[in-house]
Amino acid sequence: MSATATPRILPFGDQPCTLALNDYLIDCSRVCEPQSDIREQWHDRGLVVLTGTGMRHLGELQRWAELIFDDFTAYEGGSAPRYKWSDKVFGLDDAPPTIDLCFHNEGCYLPEYPRCFVIGSVKAPAEGGFTLVADNNAATDRLLETSVGKALMEKGVRYVRRMQDKCATNVLGYKSWQETFYTNDPQEAETSVRAKGWDFEWLNDGTLRTSYTVDAYEYHEELSKPLFFAGLASHAAFFDQWSPYNVLADEERPLNMTLGDGQPFTNAQIATIYAAHNANSLALDWRRADLAMLDNLRWVHARPAYQLRDGEERVMGVTMGMMKPRQGPSPAMARW
Ligand SMILES: [Fe+2]
Repeated sequence: MSATATPRILPFGDQPCTLALNDYLIDCSRVCEPQSDIREQWHDRGLVVLTGTGMRHLGELQRWAELIFDDFTAYEGGSAPRYKWSDKVFGLDDAPPTIDLCFHNEGCYLPEYPRCFVIGSVKAPAEGGFTLVADNNAATDRLLETSVGKALMEKGVRYVRRMQDKCATNVLGYKSWQETFYTNDPQEAETSVRAKGWDFEWLNDGTLRTSYTVDAYEYHEELSKPLFFAGLASHAAFFDQWSPYNVLADEERPLNMTLGDGQPFTNAQIATIYAAHNANSLALDWRRADLAMLDNLRWVHARPAYQLRDGEERVMGVTMGMMKPRQGPSPAMARW
């Protein structure tokens, strides 16, 4: 992969969505006590989009999330840079606006993941800046009809990360191990890595390289079936549009993802995974919606590239919880 090569995930977010925002929307300015409707829809359909909330600050996401869960996660071990709107609400500054952030389940590379993911906006551009979400149940059915979907069920998936030392010079960094594990002590970082069951090594330049092989599907108790639980946002292709990372080989990039046996994904396999999600997507238009509450196993999310005009801002936050340990495609089949 080189800087002049065509990005492997194309096109992104420029096709009509097959699902409609209105079908998931609750207007809180019209419903007297929306709490029970919100809980019921989240449990029945796994996606609730709210408008008319009067939300002015992203810290307010917490009180909406508390309708569903109260065990907020601190995002320890998370792969993307984060800052905070409150001690429970994170900002989103994962990537430049020019980068497509592909579909993923939040925390799919962790041994314990948030089942509920709440995302909201207080400022949006006049055009674009959507978040895409996709029905992972339908995507899983489609993916399991393909050879790569079957290979993922058989072999699992491997996440490889490179976390630089924040003090290192001449290292092309992304998210340092200090930021990832909230410590400056390498022994404490190692303790966190071991607790997650990840393999690791320290490279000569102070970079912490980790590797985690895990099932690519996760059992959904209420649907009584396994759902695909991974995402191309963890693949090195995420950096295809992002200079200077895009001149690096996949193995040298901050994030990469292979089949569980270490076999790289082919471009055709990447396209197949992307298409499975993209065929069942819905655009969260933040000019119409205030926040969305997702069952993070049942719905994936993504962010197409966008442009801001003079004076425009895109201000978003996320909070998550209802933590669940990975169990694999069925309660009896966790293997790694
Ligand atoms: Fe995300």
